[in-house]
Amino acid sequence: MTTVEASTTDLDQQLEAFAESFFGAALGAAELSVAWLGRSLGLYTALRGAAGLTVAELAERAGVDQRYAQEWLEHQAVARVLSVDDPAAPATERRYRLPEAHAIALLDEEHPAYVGGLLEIPPVIARSLQLVHDAIRTGAGVPFASYGLHDMQAGFTRPMFANAFAAEWLPALPEVHRRLEAGEALRIADFGCGEGWAGIYLAEAYPSVRVDGYDLDDASIAAAREHASARGVADRVQFDLRDLRQPDPGTRYDLVFTCEVIHDLADPVGALATMRRATDGGGTVLVIDEKAAESFEPSGDPIERLLYGFSILHCLPVGRDAESSAATGTVMRPDVFRRYAQEAGFSDVEVLPIEHPFFRFYHPVG
Ligand SMILES: C[S@@+](CC[C@H](N)C(=O)[O-])C[C@H]1O[C@@H](n2cnc3c(N)ncnc32)[C@H](O)[C@@H]1O
Repeated sequence: MTTVEASTTDLDQQLEAFAESFFGAALGAAELSVAWLGRSLGLYTALRGAAGLTVAELAERAGVDQRYAQEWLEHQAVARVLSVDDPAAPATERRYRLPEAHAIALLDEEHPAYVGGLLEIPPVIARSLQLVHDAIRTGAGVPFASYGLHDMQAGFTRPMFANAFAAEWLPALPEVHRRLEAGEALRIADFGCGEGWAGIYLAEAYPSVRVDGYDLDDASIAAAREHASARGVADRVQFDLRDLRQPDPGTRYDLVFTCEVIHDLADPVGALATMRRATDGGGTVLVIDEKAAESFEPSGDPIERLLYGFSILHCLPVGRDAESSAATGTVMRPDVFRRYAQEAGFSDVEVLPIEHPFFRFYHPVG
């Protein structure tokens, strides 16, 4: 084989592998979107627990058009979301089932395996992609509210708050944990609380604590208040619209935490300084943020790829929606966080020994 032939083959192989990787991405995008339709239209709920539904039965139960129901069912069977009792039967007679494991992942919002947050990615991108496109051209930011993503965010974090916050994360702060377990009436604040689930689950786990959640987004605060009422903890968990840059929340807290917020902020140092002041006199600060790699590595792992994807599509444009901005983005590396914490007046940052695929747990001290 000549050198020219060899390098042509090489190029062909590279081309094939590269194009194939985008085919996988297209499959993922289509499957997330079709699954979102199924959740949003109540098709999974209608299928759950049924002993196999035909096209007509699903259309009737969920109140959707039959021909679309048929296409959706066939797609879901081909995509291995649904099973089919009798694939060789005529299209209108086949019976489709939703396996219980798939129903749990698609529908149970508190379950650790819940994937509902992922299904919200396509509509959020559909709402915001043009805005991001234009912002990249001009250098402007994109307002958080224009994404309408607080449900998606809650879909990501609620299962972790429900299952891990009190049970696994807080024990890594032994003094706070001891006082909580002793039933002390601690005052806790959630900075950038979103839909408020962290505070709600803490209040459920520890009946003597009071939690204040602060956020700048009206829709998030409205949802958080509704959730607290529905769970019967609104007397101990309160939510207020507040900009975290506001210099003093006016209350002293035993624990101030924030989850997936610092990298989104135009002024992360200002917010950390507010957290420090809010714990003045002995309180504890906990910052949960993305577990970006220690330093930039080309060909990063899937988590790093996802973080950069979220960064360009959401976190960087949101963080730049201000007159001046630190422009951090989702990929906030530990040395960057340490610098922010020191500029905010903390003397050091401990990284708590909690194993988590997505999060790093920073405990700024001093
Ligand atoms: C990625 S979400 C995280 C929400 C929640 N902590 C969770 O983990 O689900 C970031 C939150 O920070 C809020 N936020 C951003 N900038 C803020 C600011 N300057 N003041 C208050 N909240 C802010 C947003 O409104 C949003 O709810």
